Amino acid sequence: MKILGIETSCDETAAAVVRDGVEILSNVVVSQIDIFAEYGGVIPEVAARSHLEVVLPVIDKALADAKCSWDDIDAIAVTHAPGLLGSLLVGTLTARTLAILHDKPLYAVHHLKSHVYANWLNTDGRLPQFPLLALVVSGGHTQILYMRGHNQFEIIGTTRDDAVGECFDKVAKVLGLPYPGGPSIDKAALSGNPDKYVLPHPKIPELDFSFSGVKTAVLRLVQKEVGVPISYPSHKLKELLNPQQVNDFAASFQKTAVEILCEKLEMALERYPEVQSVVVSGGVSASQALREALPEAYFPVRALSGDNGAMVAAACYYEIQSGVEPTDPYKLNIYPRISVEN
Ligand code: KG4
Ligand code: ZN
Repeated sequence: MKILGIETSCDETAAAVVRDGVEILSNVVVSQIDIFAEYGGVIPEVAARSHLEVVLPVIDKALADAKCSWDDIDAIAVTHAPGLLGSLLVGTLTARTLAILHDKPLYAVHHLKSHVYANWLNTDGRLPQFPLLALVVSGGHTQILYMRGHNQFEIIGTTRDDAVGECFDKVAKVLGLPYPGGPSIDKAALSGNPDKYVLPHPKIPELDFSFSGVKTAVLRLVQKEVGVPISYPSHKLKELLNPQQVNDFAASFQKTAVEILCEKLEMALERYPEVQSVVVSGGVSASQALREALPEAYFPVRALSGDNGAMVAAACYYEIQSGVEPTDPYKLNIYPRISVEN
């Protein structure tokens, strides 16, 4: 079964063809990072406009790279939730139109489900086993999910404020490192001392996370280090930091963020001793430090950590296997904030 997956929930326009949920035949990702690096973050209206410009060429290339015509495609899968409203609209309206035009079944896929299913792609047959825990760490989400089987998601831990990726992005901004912050901090941390600055671990009960306190702690320590009051404009702090301080802050923050994630994951494993595998996914799963801290866990190949169409097609395949019915292409709606449990 060949599924065309389409993903436009944030700032990547992506399409891919995947065979039977595991084999990538093509995977095309056009990133808007260059546009948003200038602004230091995503501007939703600009993102939607960029999706509109490239979505059809991206889909055409995905079909061409997979050496497929429309006749070869068995189903279309598209991200309908959660994400930026305008961005989701472009992908879903495109998918709806194509499904009607080419008379293909259309499936709506939740973005976090698709991140999890990146772990089933290009794995050389080593697949995660159920029941499993999925740590989803992206720019918009930080959750621990319990999966009893395919397409069964229970949220057992979630962030009460910022997502971990968002925290990487905000800390990078204070340090004057380019957007997106995760890869910049990953790189800077290689030349920094992770023990130079001590940052607090949040005291959040249960399996929930909090990252806003860590972000503020970095800000306060930077202010103290360069000797300015807390009223000093945060966007000017970077001018007062020397490169070694930047690297040390990056390394210390990254170490703390990884420790916080691992602590909660360990707690979850104690609570669910029957768990057979741990899978990590979402943009932050590209982190080298996180990969080294969790040697037993499954991580997607790096190219599939961030947003892509292949993971949407993979998730759709397992939804179909679980008996999920196609959606009405005349009615498919978007849900910018809906949970993975719905
Ligand atoms: O999954 P994703 O591409 O988009 C969302 O669904 O949000 O995740 C993007 C996030 C950004 O916050 C980015 O800074 C972070 O993933 N990220 C990383 C790394 N690469 C990307 N965070 C830490 N280390 C990395 N190497
Ligand atoms: Zn994502």
